[in-house]
Amino acid sequence: MSEHLGSILVVDDEPAIRENLEVLLSEANYKVTLADSGIDGLKKLESDLFDLVLLDVMMPDKNGLEVLEEIHQSSPETAVIMITAFGTIENAVQAIKLGAVDYVTKPWDNEKLLLDIRNGIQQRKLQHENRELKRTLKRQYGGFSNFVGKSDRMLKIFDLVTQVAQSRSTVLIQGESGTGKELVAKAIHANSSRVNEAFVTVNSGSLPSDLLESTLFGHLKGAFTSAISSKKGLFEIADHGAIFFDEIGTVGLDTQAKLLRVIQEKEFMRLGGVDTIKVDARIIAATNVDLKALVDQGRFREDLFYRLNVISIQLPPLRDRKEDIPYLADHFLKKFSEENNKNCGAMPSEMMKLLVQYDWPGNVRELENIIERAVVLSSSGKLSHDVISLDMTSVSPRGKSNGVSPMDGQSLFEILENFERKMIMEMLENVNWSQTEAADRFGLPLSTLNSKVKRLGIDIKRKTLRTHS
Ligand SMILES: Nc1ncnc2c1ncn2[C@@H]1O[C@H](COP(=O)(O)OP(=O)(O)OP(=O)(O)O)[C@@H](O)[C@H]1O
Ligand SMILES: [Mg+2]
Repeated sequence: MSEHLGSILVVDDEPAIRENLEVLLSEANYKVTLADSGIDGLKKLESDLFDLVLLDVMMPDKNGLEVLEEIHQSSPETAVIMITAFGTIENAVQAIKLGAVDYVTKPWDNEKLLLDIRNGIQQRKLQHENRELKRTLKRQYGGFSNFVGKSDRMLKIFDLVTQVAQSRSTVLIQGESGTGKELVAKAIHANSSRVNEAFVTVNSGSLPSDLLESTLFGHLKGAFTSAISSKKGLFEIADHGAIFFDEIGTVGLDTQAKLLRVIQEKEFMRLGGVDTIKVDARIIAATNVDLKALVDQGRFREDLFYRLNVISIQLPPLRDRKEDIPYLADHFLKKFSEENNKNCGAMPSEMMKLLVQYDWPGNVRELENIIERAVVLSSSGKLSHDVISLDMTSVSPRGKSNGVSPMDGQSLFEILENFERKMIMEMLENVNWSQTEAADRFGLPLSTLNSKVKRLGIDIKRKTLRTHS
């Protein structure tokens, strides 16, 4: 016999009916398995996958409707047709509500039953395919609409995002500045069932710790001197939604302890309040520093690290996935052409080559900024070659004379620091010491540039280097 038309499990406590159906269905070219009770049926469903179950409603050990519910849980792709002995319409209606594709009444007409079975299998298959299709569509055009990447590493990240989006688990996103951490956080939310609830971003780095705490947990009037009114915190706003901690590594140890408590107990207190407030917020955190290293240095709580790092997403720097550059460049070119009402055409291939060669220390954000500038500056309606190449050489770490040589007897760290200092000084001089402008040109967030400026001993006010130590 050739390939059968599908596999069917018959669940009925009456031997005569089982026999009847076995003959009918096998002759119609189905693969048939028999079960003599609800419990037996569920056991067979555990060890095998069926296209369809013919399920009796009235059975001594377990009601058919209960069995139906369990089938729905355990094998959602399996179609179920109920067999009702007396045509009790309530049962039939209930069965359809519970997800049965159809019901037949005893005694049945063989031809009609075979037709119903064929339809049932077909219908379930279509539903399944549609769901898959929707999932793919959503992935391409929905939750990922502005998320570009074709490299293996990014495709894996898309898959991971889709998978973890369904859960409530805490996610820690790590990666260099500009690699797309915030975008990933938003994609997780956009692909989750919480999509219609709030997505709240906390810029942990930009606030002193007492302010951060009142921002997170809210406060009651009079909780501290400047608390002239009561205010809800971000956790309350993020209830049922998600809360995204950007630069989690900058959160102080005191606040870390409180965060740990919210994560573990799912409750918190407003500053100055006595009531504990329950909250169900999905926590997503991001960092561009090595959080584990902070743990080793005693600057980040180990227990909090493990609580956050339940699911870990590591975003690779752009230089490690150069095959994404053309797609990203194209994406940004379209985006900024539209925004600026310019028709810049396609990216000239020699320019694309330059873009692919470059190392992108500021990652995707740097690429995005450079293309935005190129579009804005192009006057002829066509991207001119100079526009990009000029900018590239001004920030390229491979610039011709950088004044440092590996033979200077410095450690690599010192060489890089000197180089970084020199580049930042040069840039600042060029932009009239505006850190905002410099950060923008480097494709860095202002806070990142500012912390570099401090670390490298650049004195913004005096427009020079600090000369101590
Ligand atoms: N794969 C990508 N596809 C399209 N745009 C991207 C992608 N990755 C990043 N971007 C864009 O690059 C910019 C920087 O991304 P994002 O803000 O998510 O980076 P980040 O890792 O949070 O950086 P930082 O650590 O500096 O905060 C954003 O404008 C974002 O939309
Ligand atoms: Mg960010």
